[in-house]
Amino acid sequence: MSKAVRGHSLTLLREPGVGRGVPLYRRLYERIRDGVLAGALPPGTRLPAARTLAEEEGVSRNTVEAALGRLRAEGFVVRRVGAGTWVSDEIPLRRLQRAATGLGNGEGARTRWALLSARGRRVAEANPGPNEPPGLIFAASGSGLDEVSLKTWNRIVRRRARERSLELLGPPPPAGLPALRKAVATYLHMDRGVRCTADRVVIVNSTQQAVDLAARLLLDPGDAVWLEDPGYVAARRALVAAGARPVPVPVDDEGIDVGAGRSVAPDARLAYVTPSHQYPLGVPLSLARRLALVAWARRANAWIVEDDYDSELRYVGRPLAPLQGIDDSGRVIYVGTFNKVLFPAVRAAYLVLPDALVEPFERAKALSDGFTSPFVQAVLADFIDEGHFSAHLRGLRGLCQARRDAFLAAASALLPAHATLGPAEAGLHVALHLPGRTDDDRIARRAVRAGLSLPSLSAQSMEAPVRGLLLHYGHVSAEEMDAAVEATARVLEEEGCSHDP
Ligand SMILES: Cc1ncc(COP(=O)(O)O)c(C=O)c1O
Repeated sequence: MSKAVRGHSLTLLREPGVGRGVPLYRRLYERIRDGVLAGALPPGTRLPAARTLAEEEGVSRNTVEAALGRLRAEGFVVRRVGAGTWVSDEIPLRRLQRAATGLGNGEGARTRWALLSARGRRVAEANPGPNEPPGLIFAASGSGLDEVSLKTWNRIVRRRARERSLELLGPPPPAGLPALRKAVATYLHMDRGVRCTADRVVIVNSTQQAVDLAARLLLDPGDAVWLEDPGYVAARRALVAAGARPVPVPVDDEGIDVGAGRSVAPDARLAYVTPSHQYPLGVPLSLARRLALVAWARRANAWIVEDDYDSELRYVGRPLAPLQGIDDSGRVIYVGTFNKVLFPAVRAAYLVLPDALVEPFERAKALSDGFTSPFVQAVLADFIDEGHFSAHLRGLRGLCQARRDAFLAAASALLPAHATLGPAEAGLHVALHLPGRTDDDRIARRAVRAGLSLPSLSAQSMEAPVRGLLLHYGHVSAEEMDAAVEATARVLEEEGCSHDP
């Protein structure tokens, strides 16, 4: 899916002295061309509409048309009437290489892309980079710590800092400080029903690092991997960057359709799944499907990466037992994170591995970044061991449930009836489904302009786009919820989504 460049400025045009004497159209043409050659406007990037460009640059529409016409003629962009202008996916490689070495055009244009190996390009291209400005309402990430937990956290930080312990100056074992591995194992065993002992826990910085390590250790280029469709884009990117062949497997109201996966790619090497709270649709994986998934992995000798990213936050009934707890064949790699329920910068997550994988993961972790900060690990171990983590989770659950209730009340009053909400029994977000032909990407772009983060469901889909938006209500206070939902309703209205189709 293309990415718009709205918000990025192409406006050197107006700077005094820049390109004086060069026609305006040519200055605009060169600016965009150089952006493409330097990799700042990667293939597939959508350019602003000609009208918008003309307004932003303070030039006439004819000037913009002349510049875009030349860019198209030279193959830098493709234009489709009524649809827009994109940076071409097929910029000739020689052009990029000439630009990279500064040869050929004499203007010193560089590109990062052409300097990379084929594998390097795959890695870099798998991640299109940040695509949202910070500070948007309904943004996915934020701190889960309230004042009380933050005070406790800081108290432990000060205490640990006073100790001046050499152990905390590092290096600790790459798999993590023994104290934290033990604390995590006890917590997971007691509270989450995960089968685990401390020596099977490996501490990493994030779920993302866990998936990246799993991809690099367990897959060869071209190996098929089942991915929930729609699913978590960041995990897909790590797997694709490692050379995996993504196989989209549809998700229905029982979670990933294991039968469909078996029929399209029975011999896949790995399945990445979010069974407790499917991301993004929010459905839990049914027991029948859990059993079928584990049975398939056993028969196919495949791995299951179980991303249990927010199962601590369940508002209805008891937390669901993890897949890992029903797997007797050691095929499940369980992944959890502190980055969501504590705060993103804590950079602490964990894998629970089958015995035989512990050492390879430890080695790979050491290779990729050495180890996770021992100081943070020690603080976190204390936070868990002294009971503050459980207390924090109880408080967070109450807070997020109140936010969820406020969100649901506001949504039923303010959002159009044909926009239906997915399950909201857990987690920090809910999917808002929109009718079949809605251009949800366009709505998402308009939302950003209105200060809202409402990622489209299409952007998380692979094969059969599900239309709708994701609303991360978890970081919006109950008092601000009505205004946030009202702003969402306005965006929908402006996009013609306010009444039944
Ligand atoms: C499905 C899913 N998994 C994991 C995470 C957390 O990732 P990390 O630990 O990499 O910060 C998120 C965060 O939004 C998520 O949506």
